[in-house]
Amino acid sequence: MLKIDNLTAEIDGKTILNGLSLEVAAGEIHAIMGPNGAGKSTLSYVLGGRPGYEVTGGSVTFRGQDLLDMEPHERAAAGLFLGFQYPVEIPGVSNVQFLREALNAQRKGRGEEPLSGGEFLKLAKEKAALLKLDMDMLKRNVNVGFSGGEKKRAEMVQMGILDPAFAVLDETDSGLDIDALRVVGDGINAIMRDSGKGVLLITHYQRLLDVVKPDKVSILSKGRIVKTGGPELALRLENEGYDAVMAEPA
Ligand SMILES: Nc1ncnc2c1ncn2[C@@H]1O[C@H](COP(=O)(O)OP(=O)(O)OP(=O)(O)O)[C@@H](O)[C@H]1O
Ligand SMILES: [Mg+2]
Repeated sequence: MLKIDNLTAEIDGKTILNGLSLEVAAGEIHAIMGPNGAGKSTLSYVLGGRPGYEVTGGSVTFRGQDLLDMEPHERAAAGLFLGFQYPVEIPGVSNVQFLREALNAQRKGRGEEPLSGGEFLKLAKEKAALLKLDMDMLKRNVNVGFSGGEKKRAEMVQMGILDPAFAVLDETDSGLDIDALRVVGDGINAIMRDSGKGVLLITHYQRLLDVVKPDKVSILSKGRIVKTGGPELALRLENEGYDAVMAEPA
């Protein structure tokens, strides 16, 4: 579903992704772990098409299409969703407005009819309930004054509403309290654990992987994937640390 081949990318002339190759099949949840500054968020930005990130080599194929050739909104309409490590605030725009616009723009991009106000609200209520987020939160401006955990939860409501084929989730577990971690993890399972979908789950800790059980775990270090294994790799990292696990032959 997503195939990244020998990808190199730079920011402000500095190479950050350095020959990164990774494949995620449909139906697969693939966790990415790696030291701070390794390039995990950069990878998610490059996949999303964020301006300022220059791809200097390699290729990315998403559902049979050349992803790097598509505009960010085309990537979204094709079914790609990005959950940010630091969700942005949008003053003056309510979550409900924003999500309805986003959903209908994506539906239009796919040649589908827009949802009416009533249909949209029904969908929003259903997804807010799934993530145990009060509907009043969705009436407030996007992320403005939200606590760290509320932002992450609202982002998963966003994912539920947009119903993407593939999600890149960047540290969705950061800032969540113990109960919220379970709610968000269960939400990811409910929304994305489907044979036709795929997830790239960037995380530093095993705790999210206890709930959202990954099929594969890869270590990203210095801009490339240096090791891939099963769920046991994450457990080993937690117990032994990066240096010990990365020192052995791939
Ligand atoms: N504008 C920039 N100019 C130069 N270097 C940058 C710029 N933006 C990011 N970087 C560097 O790119 C590297 C990769 O950053 P990135 O955010 O992708 O790391 P990460 O793996 O997500 O780390 P973390 O686990 O801390 O979230 C870092 O060393 C960072 O300082
Ligand atoms: Mg990061």
